[in-house]
Amino acid sequence: MNTSADHQVIVALDFADRSAAEALVARLGGACGFYKVGLELLTAAGPDLVRGLVDRGHEVFLDLKLFEIPNSVAGAVRAAGALGASMVTVHSMGGTGIMTAAVDAAREFPGLRVLALTVVTSMTGSDLTDIGIGSGRGGSGSGSGVSTDEQVLRLARLAAEAGCDGVVGSPREAGPLRRLLGPDRLIVTPGVTLPGGETGGEAGGHARSDHARSDTPWAAFAAGASHVVVGRSVTRATDPVAALRRVAAGPRGAAGR
Ligand code: C5P
Repeated sequence: MNTSADHQVIVALDFADRSAAEALVARLGGACGFYKVGLELLTAAGPDLVRGLVDRGHEVFLDLKLFEIPNSVAGAVRAAGALGASMVTVHSMGGTGIMTAAVDAAREFPGLRVLALTVVTSMTGSDLTDIGIGSGRGGSGSGSGVSTDEQVLRLARLAAEAGCDGVVGSPREAGPLRRLLGPDRLIVTPGVTLPGGETGGEAGGHARSDHARSDTPWAAFAAGASHVVVGRSVTRATDPVAALRRVAAGPRGAAGR
């Protein structure tokens, strides 16, 4: 996996069609080396889009969020590997069986990393309570059930034991996850927002509404994230290249806005 700076910020191509996605890719040019393709674009545009990105030298994080029987998870992981994806996601809440199926299936694709989703970053403690897991307090609350933080770490431990290459977690969890997982595993952090300013104000406003456990990309990196995923703060910015540079430059770059 390419570890250069332009491969540490992953831009989410959350578009409804291929032409909009390709327009953004063309606009970002060499500024971005890593794209996330999720279920919306994959379903609308098909796998050719992924092949095309890979053929042009980009890495692709195929965010399939797999939660299926192990046999089907393995098949989907092999399909992702055959497309040339660099990362694919599986839900750790699906348990050890599907994570090991994913890890085993990925072995024939040396460039493919399996990431486990822990608690999706838009979920709060009360969401966990609703599905019968949490304490209802969120954050580090210590009710009778499991807090969001505890659940994230519990799932991350399970993912590591299953052999996953890393986890997806919110910026707020990057630090505890890094301490738990050690220096080598990937910690990929979506749910980042840019504070105020030209691009953050424009796109960050609505982005914040579904980022229950969000923080800035710089805080995520400082806490130990290996990669951050950024979507609307870049893709809907007036100047996407400037917004991406701002993410990559860190707070000092932001101070100049
Ligand atoms: O919000 P933004 O546009 O930056 O989202 C980029 C990507 O991050 C989305 O594709 C989504 O899958 C992921 N995301 C997430 N949790 C959130 C918000 C976004 O995992 N709370």
